[in-house]
Amino acid sequence: MYSELCERLQLDHALFAFSHCRDVVAAVSNGGGMGVLGAGWMSAETLATELDWLDRAVGERGYGVDVVIPQRYEGMEESDPQALEQRLKAQVPAAHQAFADRLLREHGVPEWPEGEQEAPPDLPGATYATALPLVEEALRHPKCRILVNALGTPPPEVIEAVQSSGRLIGALCGRVKQAVAHAQAGLDFVVAQGGEGGGHAGEISSIVLWPQVVDAVTPLPVLAAGGIGNGRQMLAAMASGAAGVWTGSIWVTVAEAAGEPAQKASYLKATSEDTVRSRSWTGKTARVLRNAWTEAWDKDASIEPLPMPLQFLVSADARRRTERYAGAGDTQAVAMNPAGQVIGQINEIESCREVMYRLLSEYAEALVRVSGLMPPES
Ligand SMILES: Cc1cc2nc3c(=O)[nH]c(=O)nc-3n(C[C@H](O)[C@H](O)[C@H](O)COP(=O)(O)O)c2cc1C
Repeated sequence: MYSELCERLQLDHALFAFSHCRDVVAAVSNGGGMGVLGAGWMSAETLATELDWLDRAVGERGYGVDVVIPQRYEGMEESDPQALEQRLKAQVPAAHQAFADRLLREHGVPEWPEGEQEAPPDLPGATYATALPLVEEALRHPKCRILVNALGTPPPEVIEAVQSSGRLIGALCGRVKQAVAHAQAGLDFVVAQGGEGGGHAGEISSIVLWPQVVDAVTPLPVLAAGGIGNGRQMLAAMASGAAGVWTGSIWVTVAEAAGEPAQKASYLKATSEDTVRSRSWTGKTARVLRNAWTEAWDKDASIEPLPMPLQFLVSADARRRTERYAGAGDTQAVAMNPAGQVIGQINEIESCREVMYRLLSEYAEALVRVSGLMPPES
């Protein structure tokens, strides 16, 4: 599966893999695709460590970095990360924190060990103030070949910094008008993610969104995302005019992914009906595995999730405690497990190499089958 984008990025396959796990990113890049590291939840120091490791792991290959700079969020005008966090924390109603704490208590999630400093940050990199240091770190690494932004068109100074360094910059979109805004801002490619995809997701399904985005931004390359877990789905994407596929959910259960066994078990047993678009984790609709946490926030009429990034603060303790104690008691009932509907197709642990081999051979088989559907020449 090859497109002009492969030539520009020196890839063997137009297969992009989003993952928070450096081992997955390295394995996909080394297999001839493009691994993209999700940096949105990291501090700049952690990202530096991860990218130093990747620089050694990918040899002559490259990789991508994904950041989250939302177009609109509470406290946008504040550029100092610490001041922003303090100000946002003061805005979180006590009732919201109490609601979250009660859910963790009811499901027996152990407390974070007292006095332990090493905790993931309350406010992830999902604001301009917290994402900018991540962009700067990514640009210090020559093997980082693309930067991708979620939740909006990146600011002009970020576009300029990335492009003038010789790299490509793209952004995700879930609607045609967002894709047009990305194109008008001068991005190099667009990732069109249908609503069935994992993580932040809109309402329009992939099969409807992809060709519309392709038509709206052509000749800009479009990567198709949302619901791709086998070669037939890849062919559908390429038939829609995509220049490649961008995948997320298929990597959460691979052998190389860092997830705890209990979290991987939740993913493996989920069907395509077990995901929901919920505002309960970040304040914007994100597709995750449905569980007691999402049900409580989405169904309890007495409380509404706060807008991003305030809900991040409300869910911070839940995220870090359920990650640390993933296998304890009933923790998975209140854990954040982003996944798209395609998770229902994933029922066993494979290596990245096996996934790539399977996808590409299924794609070739599907292509041959479809080519044979032409009427016989008379
Ligand atoms: C666990 C998980 C976390 C995600 N986090 C992000 C993120 O931080 N930034 C981003 O651009 N996309 C994120 N996404 C969305 C992926 O980049 C991708 O667009 C999506 O997974 C594609 O749909 P699929 O899940 O059906 O493959 C995430 C997806 C998953 C499954």
